[in-house]
Amino acid sequence: MSESPIRVVELFAGVGGFRLALEGKPSSKKKGFKIVWANQWEPPGTEGRQFAYRCYLQRFGHEPAEIDAYVNMDLAMALDLAQEGVWEIPEHDLLCGGFPCQDYSVARPLSQADGIEGKKGVLWWEIYRLITMKEPQYILLENVDRMLKSPASQRGRDFAIMLSSLAGLGYSVEWRVINAADYGFPQRRRRVYIYCERLTSKWDLKERINSSGVISEAFPIVTDDEGFSEMVIDKDPYRITQEFGRGLKVSPFETAGAMQGYRVVTKKTIPAYRGKRKTLGSILVDETVVPEEFFINTAELSAWEFLKGSKKIPRKNKHTGHEYIYSEGGMAFPDSPEQPSRTILTGEGGRSASRFKHVVTTPSGRYRRLVPEELEQLQGFPKGWTDVGMSDINRAFCMGNALVVDIPERLGKVIRKRHGQA
Ligand SMILES: C[S@@+](CC[C@H](N)C(=O)[O-])C[C@H]1O[C@@H](n2cnc3c(N)ncnc32)[C@H](O)[C@@H]1O
Repeated sequence: MSESPIRVVELFAGVGGFRLALEGKPSSKKKGFKIVWANQWEPPGTEGRQFAYRCYLQRFGHEPAEIDAYVNMDLAMALDLAQEGVWEIPEHDLLCGGFPCQDYSVARPLSQADGIEGKKGVLWWEIYRLITMKEPQYILLENVDRMLKSPASQRGRDFAIMLSSLAGLGYSVEWRVINAADYGFPQRRRRVYIYCERLTSKWDLKERINSSGVISEAFPIVTDDEGFSEMVIDKDPYRITQEFGRGLKVSPFETAGAMQGYRVVTKKTIPAYRGKRKTLGSILVDETVVPEEFFINTAELSAWEFLKGSKKIPRKNKHTGHEYIYSEGGMAFPDSPEQPSRTILTGEGGRSASRFKHVVTTPSGRYRRLVPEELEQLQGFPKGWTDVGMSDINRAFCMGNALVVDIPERLGKVIRKRHGQA
């Protein structure tokens, strides 16, 4: 087993969910991973929007001299500067990050001079650029589960492009949609985790999905030999852009899968978990410590009830003039403390009534929103992690963007255990 820590680059670092998962808090004695470079930049780049960056700096206690190791700049520009030799991105073993789901289509066939050309501003192609520059041994990515299905006009096309480009760089890939609540965490949050290994031994893809994979070791599933489907991904992302998924109503990529050398096996999985299950109620703080602005007064209640309720509203399309009935079902109001919470979103903060913000009732019978410390707990962050001088709205924004820390923490434990054993 290798003694030196696994060197990590953390992209789209936000308030440091991956770092916390892998390295632990600065005070922790956790060993095994060391973040050697990180990048975070909140569009459009104004100073006032860089609150996640400031939180990260403060929480991980960077000295000004280390600032080159934590770059607050659009990733595309940071990579341009690295390629121009202005600074160096250190060698690393693991590249990780949670990135936006965008259109990954490419503009040019592989046979043309410079290979793959992704659209400008599409962050997957920046990740890809860094992978080609540094060729890390492992990659761990997180995204919304919609990434496996998008775009609607060509189901699964974007993920196929991603798989093809990773296979082209010699990576074998595992993926899984993990709903945190299925493994006992207090939030229903479905995200796809993508784990990649370079220069690995030959994989039995079905076994990798069922039990021998990094993801299946960390998050076991009910294993059986049924339900697998197989495909071979095109080597040319341009052809995938043109052809993949046309006419498909559903994506061919199921909740779990593995790929080696362009051959893909995928399957719909059932989580296997018998442990304790945390609920929204388990993370609620005592109402006596909740500031008054989080309570919803009687006059405001009807607006919340309307937005949460089921409705059918006549609407007209501004451009086409087409008239239609917009309808949506009712949501639980207030949220049940006996269930895991719904997914927290970036708009969770602020007083205004909303369909998606969480609302609970207190023992004294009042309605209230969740305080930032509760949002932090739902994401597995230490209480008060984002309490570094930013507004409650921005604290909620950061938590809506972040991840359930326990998920990459468990994946990291398996990666660490296996590292050096090959
Ligand atoms: C899904 S969030 C990841 C949050 C992070 N995992 C955490 O624990 O807080 C994506 C992050 O990417 C950042 N981001 C968006 N565009 C970026 C760009 N062009 N360059 C660098 N970071 C960017 C956003 O500000 C956001 O913090």
